Amino acid sequence: MSKLFTHIQELVGIETISRHKVSGSEMKELHTIKDAFLLIENGLIADFGAMDTMPMMDIGSVTDASETIILPAWCDSHTHIVYAGNREQEFVDRILGLSYEEIANRGGGILNSAKKLQETNQEDLYNQSAKRLEEVIRLGTGAIEIKSGYGLTIEAEIKMLRVIKELKANYPIEIKATFLGAHAIPLAYKNKRKDYITLLTEEMLPLIAAENLADFIDVFCETGYFTVAETISILKAGKKFGLIPKIHVNQFTAIGGIKAAVENNALSVDHLEVMRPEDIQVLQGSTTMPVALPSCSYFLGIPYTPAREMIDSGLPLALATDYNPGSTPSGNMNFVVSTACIKMKMTPEEAINAATLNGAYAMGISKTHGSICKGKKANLIFTKPIPSYGYLPYAFGSNTIDKVMLNGDFFESL
Ligand code: NIG
Ligand code: FE
Repeated sequence: MSKLFTHIQELVGIETISRHKVSGSEMKELHTIKDAFLLIENGLIADFGAMDTMPMMDIGSVTDASETIILPAWCDSHTHIVYAGNREQEFVDRILGLSYEEIANRGGGILNSAKKLQETNQEDLYNQSAKRLEEVIRLGTGAIEIKSGYGLTIEAEIKMLRVIKELKANYPIEIKATFLGAHAIPLAYKNKRKDYITLLTEEMLPLIAAENLADFIDVFCETGYFTVAETISILKAGKKFGLIPKIHVNQFTAIGGIKAAVENNALSVDHLEVMRPEDIQVLQGSTTMPVALPSCSYFLGIPYTPAREMIDSGLPLALATDYNPGSTPSGNMNFVVSTACIKMKMTPEEAINAATLNGAYAMGISKTHGSICKGKKANLIFTKPIPSYGYLPYAFGSNTIDKVMLNGDFFESL
């Protein structure tokens, strides 16, 4: 079934030749066409261009889009949307003065979510997660990465990954799955952390690979969580099972994890709130995508990733939500894009590139997602009447999205 949109106010994020990512000063360029047409066939972008170049076509479905801006759907490369319950109490504890680290040290944090998840059956967990997935699709997300890491036992980690597989089967959104068994050392292994790492690499990984449950392997490389040496050994074990590394790193402290990730060909390094000059240097010339998570900085009141310094030194940057119950209970990519402009001094062009094409790269899907390019998936945002694409980050807190298209069809809740 073909769909033709004509007189589009502005078609944003177009590419005539598909690029994998945009870096440095390239990020400032966001290609657009005003008064455009867009042809969609079999769920893919078949053609686009200026109205005055539109070929004659005999198409059943023609829609005037003169009050609509169309842009690629957001590519959210870092989420933890499969979780059980919430952590509102910790939110209040932080308002009253405790830090994220202090809460974690008292048995809250990731271990709190792990306990809740272990007590929740797969069906309940699926239902809670599906609700979040539908919410973020309506907010414009057209491709998403989802991590395990709130299980921390063989059964519970597998349960999380099976929920992700079920979401993949039931929703038209592109989903990538990440095994994050190394999210925290479970209480039962507090004094035998080596044994937990052995469980992870020798028992969990073979089971996950046998069921084909994950694309990527992730580690929380941070003081109090996993050391750089442990991170390297876990990433290497994952690679043996075909899982591509991506890590949580430099959130609170800089301990050398970025170098380890780059040396292990990580697809992305995520968080990066605390960056030293050598961390920026080691990313230069690498294939690893740095990923910033500004709503995590907002929610926890920690520094923002130094985007300006990184982009001005020639690096690419992607933006993602980090949607999770502890540090970012929000999956709103529009808020992320706004916050990147307001707090990280990224221009709207840079932020949109970071949240689309570079986000796609951080999931290994930039050949098919992340821009409006012939042959790519028709995963698109259709805006409400707004004056310009810059109005999207400017009008922070307003919902400027009218409809979201996935594989050529407008998304309706299941
Ligand atoms: O990406 N930093 C590690 N993991 C999550 C938060 C986990 C939690 O607090 O539940 C993050 O921010
Ligand atoms: Fe995270």
